[in-house]
Amino acid sequence: MRKPVIAGNWKMYKTVSESVETALALKPLVANANHCEVVIAPVFTALKTVADRLEGSNIKVAGQNCSTEIEEGAQTGEVLAAMLKDAGASYVIVGHSERRQYYFETDVVVRKKTQASIVAGLTAIVCVGESLAQRDQGSAESVVSEQIEGGLSGLTASDLDRIIVAYEPVWAIGTGRTATPEQAQEMHAFIRRVFAQRHSDAAAENLRILYGGSVKPDNIVGLMAQPDIDGALVGGASLKADSFAQIVNYNR
Ligand code: PGA
Repeated sequence: MRKPVIAGNWKMYKTVSESVETALALKPLVANANHCEVVIAPVFTALKTVADRLEGSNIKVAGQNCSTEIEEGAQTGEVLAAMLKDAGASYVIVGHSERRQYYFETDVVVRKKTQASIVAGLTAIVCVGESLAQRDQGSAESVVSEQIEGGLSGLTASDLDRIIVAYEPVWAIGTGRTATPEQAQEMHAFIRRVFAQRHSDAAAENLRILYGGSVKPDNIVGLMAQPDIDGALVGGASLKADSFAQIVNYNR
């Protein structure tokens, strides 16, 4: 059985005190959520404080990005995956479409970051997804399989336990335009097939594939009803404790 993961991506929002306030408001609202892993990803500057304040709770903390490097060194502005771990993170989001689009991250960069995360003992939430133009051209599947091949090559069987894939169609992020549960299911099943071909049936069966893109309290139930959707990566609706808690508690 794949345990669902509901992860909140706070992007570049919230000061340290606002982050702590939201995290502490969320804590009691999701305290009984044993059906899934609950994750929040604050900005780097708030990560340590939030992680400290959530210690002993069922909410885990994620970084939103990390360096491609494995060891500390002269890399101005970068943060090692191991440093995120040291600050209290257990997950890291890698290759988000905003990083691919605005910071020119390629599949090679995504692969290095994924590997660095695994070496550091973090679980990498690796994002893939096509743009609207790519979907309209009928190339959504080839784009996503290329991102999977390029971003996740070179992983060993044991590394795969530390990988979560997030399918986030770029046209659905922050646009209010969600993929239908059927569209998402179709791509999730495709990603699982790609994984089965590339690795093994067992690895594909165990892989958790999250959907992301305008997930809200009113569409999470339909998404989670799909057999290959194993959770969600939530942006906008994760910024408020009550709406994120409603998404986490989709099973109530
Ligand atoms: P959204 O963002 O829920 O605001 O569409 C999702 C994401 O970018 O991870």
